[in-house]
Amino acid sequence: MPYKKIPLVVIIPAAGIGKRMKANCPKQYLKINQTTILEHTVTRLASHPMINKIIIALGAEDEYFAKTHLSEQAKVFVVDGGKERVDSVLAGLNIIDPNEFPWVLVHDAARPCLALNDLDSLIEACLAENIGGILASPVRDTMKRGKDFLIQATVEREDLWHALTPQMYPTTQLKTSIEQALDAQAVITDEASAIEFSGGKSQLISSSSENIKITHPDDLALAEFIINKQLSTNVNIQENQ
Ligand code: C5P
Repeated sequence: MPYKKIPLVVIIPAAGIGKRMKANCPKQYLKINQTTILEHTVTRLASHPMINKIIIALGAEDEYFAKTHLSEQAKVFVVDGGKERVDSVLAGLNIIDPNEFPWVLVHDAARPCLALNDLDSLIEACLAENIGGILASPVRDTMKRGKDFLIQATVEREDLWHALTPQMYPTTQLKTSIEQALDAQAVITDEASAIEFSGGKSQLISSSSENIKITHPDDLALAEFIINKQLSTNVNIQENQ
């Protein structure tokens, strides 16, 4: 699929505290191979030739970012995050000029295992089709709906996907959709849900299931395993080695 290469901007919401991680610092500052999760995430995105700018939304009390090497990176800019993830994303959108960057990607700070070929697939699909989209992985297990720990029904899994990040949209479409959804007090857990709210289309682009979000303590060891495996095969990532 042919598409025009254009400069891209990424927003990384990193203002969460990651309560479920039960760590003594926000989860994006936990370390894998002596490097914070946030630095792994940013380094991968920054290594993509079309990504020119990375806006990181930080928590008001963040005392960790300044201790990383990220502030020295030319592509990195910082904004104050908000109460919810969507508020942090909107804070990033507010400082983007859509004429300079007509498309924006949003990627969770806590997903450091993103493979470059998945990032390429997302960018190519969105620009070639001129329709926004998200990385996603098909549900594998049989799915149950439950109430009070009792099964109510089996949910058809054929059409179910796990919504991952990055999620990529035209900058103006995403900003308008988020503003409309917030005005209507709709529940917005990712960019695609804001686009759905405003009746827009989103493509599902199949991603490796290795693109995990570090959420629970066990995920840290799994992410380390995945990163080390990716580094040893060295096909899908570029990190400072
Ligand atoms: O908590 P969860 O893992 O779902 O958060 C997803 C991403 O959103 C994380 O990178 C987190 O730092 C970010 N976030 C944010 N602002 C908030 C809450 C979460 O930037 N108020």
